[in-house]
Amino acid sequence: MADTSTTTAEGHEHEEDRRDFLLTSTIVVGAAGVALAAWPFIDFMNPSADVLALASLEFDLSSMEPGQAVTVTWRNKPVFIRRRTAAEIDEAKKVPLSDLKDPQADADRVKEGKDEWLVMIGICTHLGCIPAGQKVTDSKGEFGGWFCPCHGSHYDTSGRIRKGPAPRNLEIPPYAFTNDTTVRIG
Ligand code: FES
Repeated sequence: MADTSTTTAEGHEHEEDRRDFLLTSTIVVGAAGVALAAWPFIDFMNPSADVLALASLEFDLSSMEPGQAVTVTWRNKPVFIRRRTAAEIDEAKKVPLSDLKDPQADADRVKEGKDEWLVMIGICTHLGCIPAGQKVTDSKGEFGGWFCPCHGSHYDTSGRIRKGPAPRNLEIPPYAFTNDTTVRIG
């Protein structure tokens, strides 16, 4: 009888060892599986040099007259470029910060010495519509800048939110002038 119970106890132990081994093997295989699956994903997250080059674009501004605007596409987003008139610049500069929902001076939204050029991402900060105001015939809203008809957000000549549900000013993308008449976005 004693032998039988020993055999049973040993058998039990063997079974547990085997189960532990199977469990350990599963965990090791599982971890290797994650590592293999993660590699293509991590590799995908590192864009190649040619993709990075496409991440910025240059635009020649030399043919734009004061009051004109163009929309370019950068990283699948519309970017508004407007060459502001002297009146539009004055209008933007004289607004007290206390009147603004998202207080930001006009000088902080343009490059020093280049305040006739406004470069912004043309996506309403409310729910992402593209505001009107780029075409001569577009409504520019109550503040002479851009108007988002989706829910009635009005932006001024600096692209700052002045009225309506949008919480923030139109976003300024990273950009720089590479010479007097060329802008590089991104
Ligand atoms: S998306 Fe522009 S006002 Fe709602």
